[in-house]
Amino acid sequence: GRVLAARCDARGLRFVVSAGGTREPIDPVRYIGNRSSGKQGVAVAVAAADRGAEVTLVVAHADEATLALAAAHPRIGVHRADTAAELSETLRGLAPAADVIVMAAAVADYRVAEASDRKLTKETSNGVPPAITLVENEDILAGLVERRAEGQMVVGFAAETPEAGESLAERGVRKRRRKGVDLLAVNEVGWSTGFEQVDNALTIIDARDEVVASVAGTKREVADALVDAVLAIR
Ligand code: CTP
Ligand code: CA
Repeated sequence: GRVLAARCDARGLRFVVSAGGTREPIDPVRYIGNRSSGKQGVAVAVAAADRGAEVTLVVAHADEATLALAAAHPRIGVHRADTAAELSETLRGLAPAADVIVMAAAVADYRVAEASDRKLTKETSNGVPPAITLVENEDILAGLVERRAEGQMVVGFAAETPEAGESLAERGVRKRRRKGVDLLAVNEVGWSTGFEQVDNALTIIDARDEVVASVAGTKREVADALVDAVLAIR
């Protein structure tokens, strides 16, 4: 619920937050996508804006009702992106002016090498399922870390399926090092965990490879914990 005296501890900070899932076209009617609803990323944008930050939200494909609420916020501006390449270009333009970049978007690791201008049909494939050749997309987060401005903070997200013999935090620490981010927010996903849910659970790892927070709650509560972690190291 709403608090009477709102916290304004993020006032003066400019956030750029990406959210939602990219879509990589196969042909004019089909794409490769993912199950991201964008709800967690949008919740981070709203939490930061409610706490006084100026927020630019870059949204790929996301739940439109959730997005509409964020778009109505006086301190949130919204940009749209379809593919990973578009998301990259938009973020590249916005990044230099950001104090904090939060990369919550689910970016496709691969795109179709050559999307067909015409719809693939069964008639032309003659009973042989078409082979789709994939090529790797640019790692947007790695690029942002590489070009980060002085004093700028970069936060990554990771959705992980648990594996035997390794904790979520251990996997997160490896990914945080690989990405070189200041904070990595790790959440567990499965067939029925994480996606499109109201609630979420995050383990937040900092640049010293320490778990600074382990939170479960609504996506907004989890978002506030992430904003707390950002403010704590600024
Ligand atoms: N990310 C990105 N560009 C990509 C892929 C991922 O910017 N091409 C970002 C995501 O937005 C997220 C972070 O990197 O903030 C981690 O994404 P994840 O998919 O967990 O990492 P990957 O390096 O792609 O590793 P994996 O093989 O586990 O998918
Ligand atoms: Ca990935």
